[in-house]
Amino acid sequence: MRGTSPVTHSKGSLHEIEWCNRQWRSPLPGAAAELSHRLPFLRPAGMIDLLRSGADMESTGKRRAGRSRICVVDANARFRAEVRDALTSVYEVQELSEQGPALDAISLVPPAAIILDENVIPNGGLALLREIGCVPELRKVPLICTAPHERSVFLADAKGLGVRTTLIKPFRRHVLLQALSGEINDRVERSWLRIEPIQQAALRRTTRVFNELADLISEGRPLRYDTVSAACEPLVEAVMAGNFQDMLEGVRQHDNYTYVHSFRVATFLSAFGQAIGIGRSDLLILATGGLIHDVGKLAVPWDILNESSRLTDRQLAIVRSHVNRTREFLRNSPGIPKGAVTIAEQHHEKLDGSGYPLGLKADQLNELARMATIIDIFSAMTDRRIYKEAMAPEQALFTMTQMKAELDQHLLAVFRDLLLATARKID
Ligand SMILES: [Fe+2]
Ligand SMILES: [Fe+2]
Repeated sequence: MRGTSPVTHSKGSLHEIEWCNRQWRSPLPGAAAELSHRLPFLRPAGMIDLLRSGADMESTGKRRAGRSRICVVDANARFRAEVRDALTSVYEVQELSEQGPALDAISLVPPAAIILDENVIPNGGLALLREIGCVPELRKVPLICTAPHERSVFLADAKGLGVRTTLIKPFRRHVLLQALSGEINDRVERSWLRIEPIQQAALRRTTRVFNELADLISEGRPLRYDTVSAACEPLVEAVMAGNFQDMLEGVRQHDNYTYVHSFRVATFLSAFGQAIGIGRSDLLILATGGLIHDVGKLAVPWDILNESSRLTDRQLAIVRSHVNRTREFLRNSPGIPKGAVTIAEQHHEKLDGSGYPLGLKADQLNELARMATIIDIFSAMTDRRIYKEAMAPEQALFTMTQMKAELDQHLLAVFRDLLLATARKID
């Protein structure tokens, strides 16, 4: 593989492709209309606003889910097309080839990131790079420079001007996606400064501890419960105050999907726990369990986790192995409470025994395991992924009500009522 490594690697993620294949892509004829008829109270705008993590849920396609605009500036039309194809489900791509029009477009509405090649009409990428550097509003826009060979003078000059990430053509799609992820997340995390302090602290502290998990796993060191539960304290405070919309919104553009998914699971699980009367110390266990429930995914290759087509049996086995990897990790972390371990070990089990890794069923699954499965599925369905749009929360809930043999429908109804109550509070 050619190309320099991006600064930040977007670690693994939950890949529920088996769900995609079996459930999410199944046609739901007239689902929206039927849902409105059956559950008309699921339509208030506040419900949508609260839950649209990762996406705006416009089925019209006028606003695609959670996209950011990326400007690719390159005189080579084939390369621009390749970049557009690579990013099509994640970003809106604006193609530009000439220096003047490119500067105009970038200045008019600064994009989320710029991919700038050395080949720009008429004076090359360096001339445009210098012009961009002269516009104060553009200095903070993430920028990735590309060239066809490592000895490119353009890349050397770009680094000299402060560009952190460079790529050598040709590069694989995931290399570009990871490079963009590293650049854009930095900007997203700085945007959290605008939200309420407690919710901001929830995002910052969980991000920090989540990043440390990868080091712990790779170095074979145990996870300390007091460390991760302390990081979850602001999250639980926000949930107990009934005010967690901003942090769900704030996390939605973060490109580390495992973190986004885990943060959402931690938030929804805590809220679920509070709704059924669980106290603060146990809410911390729920939040901790949610945050660490998929850490085994950090050992699964990125390209498998983000595979857009149906997984092979081998790939599926690798994805599913994340539960056992998580269990191994937690076994080496003796202070983790049993409740958090249950969430991690059993969030893919189902009442009818069709889940994994053990195929537990019915009475073998306690209330906590049933809650974890509901929250994990709901979160995964409403997450935005590289390979799929987010599902509208109403549709996710509706789909889950059809899973009568697999999910505890009483608990699902409690969760649905919790979401509605929260939405009404915000309206
Ligand atoms: Fe999982
Ligand atoms: Fe998960």
